[in-house]
Amino acid sequence: MAIGVLTAGGDCPGLNAAIRAVVTRVAAEDVEVVGIAKGWRGLMEGLTRPLARDDVRGILSKGGTILGTSRLDPYVHGEGYDSVAPTIEKAGLESLVVIGGDGSLRTAARLNDDGALAVVGVPKTIDNDIGGTDVSLGFHTAVQIVVDAIDRLTTTAESHNRVMVVEVMGRTAGWIAASSGIAGGAEAIVVPERPTDYEALAGRLVRRHTAGHDYSLVVVAEGCAGPSGEMSTRGTDTYGFQRLGGVAYEVARELEERTRYECRVMSLGYLQRGGTPTAFDRLLGTRFGIRAAELALGGSEGVMVALRGESIEAVDMHEAVDEVRTLDLSLLDDGSWFWM
Ligand code: F6P
Repeated sequence: MAIGVLTAGGDCPGLNAAIRAVVTRVAAEDVEVVGIAKGWRGLMEGLTRPLARDDVRGILSKGGTILGTSRLDPYVHGEGYDSVAPTIEKAGLESLVVIGGDGSLRTAARLNDDGALAVVGVPKTIDNDIGGTDVSLGFHTAVQIVVDAIDRLTTTAESHNRVMVVEVMGRTAGWIAASSGIAGGAEAIVVPERPTDYEALAGRLVRRHTAGHDYSLVVVAEGCAGPSGEMSTRGTDTYGFQRLGGVAYEVARELEERTRYECRVMSLGYLQRGGTPTAFDRLLGTRFGIRAAELALGGSEGVMVALRGESIEAVDMHEAVDEVRTLDLSLLDDGSWFWM
């Protein structure tokens, strides 16, 4: 018996902590671990290598993923199960731990349902939009990175009496925008889940500036509709995945026109996914990885590890991928007390 492990979709801090935990826990039972490189691409193209405890030493604090990742999908870019069957057979995989976001976990659930092999999922994405779990791996670090950036942008906004519009990731959910905006003391937060009244927002900034606090921070999630009502997209990548970005420029233009204040835009982009994971994500990745390994060793299939309250539980993978986990709007409402 061998257990495979792969990371798929966009990377995030904490992936290596999870890989390290899966390998260490499985190896402790003298069961072979097979690392699959470059996400689903590795399973389609036979990019595998054995992983032992020694291969995962020293990676806990490193960002990225030692396995590499991609957005290739056997069901979208290949023949589904048939395109991964040869690798599964050759490597003797009975079970696969997939550390992925909603798209990768949907593919994992499909492979599991097709009877290809037993799959156990680990939820990761800085967007925090995977269902079934209180939080996804990588989110905590991304929020910390954005808050650090907001702290720095605030001092320069203050020096120049500007409105700084900060664009953050979040394709369908405003978790990063809301969490970092509140923790960074932003004057406004624009999220996909709630339409923004720009007239009211401009009025709020004018009241604040005329009262003597003449600078502001506005945090915008990349996936929200801008003042035009449209999402800002920049074509698709080589996998057909829609590229987002640029809505903050539209928001800044709108606010500048309405308030006549000087506005500047800062898009934080991939900075949010890079570098050292926070202690929280190292711990979460470790706990997720240990539990995923134990589930795989025990023959579980079609389940995903999830943080629920203080404990790590196994939930049905479909619960995780069937619905986008959108922002809890009460978070935004708590933040709004400070916007006056
Ligand atoms: O899904 C996570 C995410 O970071 C999104 O917030 C962002 O839009 C996307 O990935 C970017 O992905 P890529 O690395 O393919 O450009």
